[in-house]
Amino acid sequence: MRIDIITIFPQMFSTVFTEGIVRIAQEKKLLNIYIHNLRDFTQDKHKKVDAPPYGGGAGMVLRCEPIFKAVESVILDKRSRVVLLSPQGRVLTQKRAKQFLKYQQLILICGRYEGVDERVAEYLADEELSIGDYILSGGEIPAMVLVDVLARLLPGAVGDKQSIEKESFEQSRLDWPHYTRPRVFRRWRVPRVLLSGDHRKIELWRKKKALEKTKENRPDLLKEV
Ligand SMILES: C[S@@+](CC[C@H](N)C(=O)[O-])C[C@H]1O[C@@H](n2cnc3c(N)ncnc32)[C@H](O)[C@@H]1O
Repeated sequence: MRIDIITIFPQMFSTVFTEGIVRIAQEKKLLNIYIHNLRDFTQDKHKKVDAPPYGGGAGMVLRCEPIFKAVESVILDKRSRVVLLSPQGRVLTQKRAKQFLKYQQLILICGRYEGVDERVAEYLADEELSIGDYILSGGEIPAMVLVDVLARLLPGAVGDKQSIEKESFEQSRLDWPHYTRPRVFRRWRVPRVLLSGDHRKIELWRKKKALEKTKENRPDLLKEV
């Protein structure tokens, strides 16, 4: 999979994409990431990417010309998907993330300031995508979130396939609790069943705990079954 990111802050990606699974996915050639500076697609000498909103009001808006130019210069073909990161988009879920895997190329447009000229959403982007009901100052962190989620899903990126299949959201429930050494920390013990060696009992206990936590924190997931 190829991912192109269009941003006015290319430096923000340099540490996040050179660590962990995203780095491994790139090393294994499962993922190619290209970061493009929106200012390189401007024509004036000040490389201005924003302007005040028509109709008045606070803040600045990212102009559409450089964004169209940037996307048109990197887009490969029909299997490319152009995504505008926006709080007004459909919310990213694990299920939605998996649907992105069918595209050969994702082009992610990171907004800033008051947002992006609406003609980008209307005539350039295939969809708007939000990472949740809150407002960040730019689309860079949402783009990083999407890339991280996708990198873990690329076949071969995560060593143990099972660890992905058993994670939260995979079976309309949250994950179960995990423990590791030491057996006793301060006065808190690891649940006895996990030390029993009885795999059937351990599985039942894990399912029960996963269900309890889902009921408590995310009862909406249980309705999806
Ligand atoms: C300050 S926000 C603009 C918010 C916009 N005025 C609104 O109220 O919907 C600037 C940029 O950050 C990004 N952004 C902010 N929150 C986001 C979210 N929850 N999901 C995805 N992108 C987000 C978008 O790219 C957006 O254009």
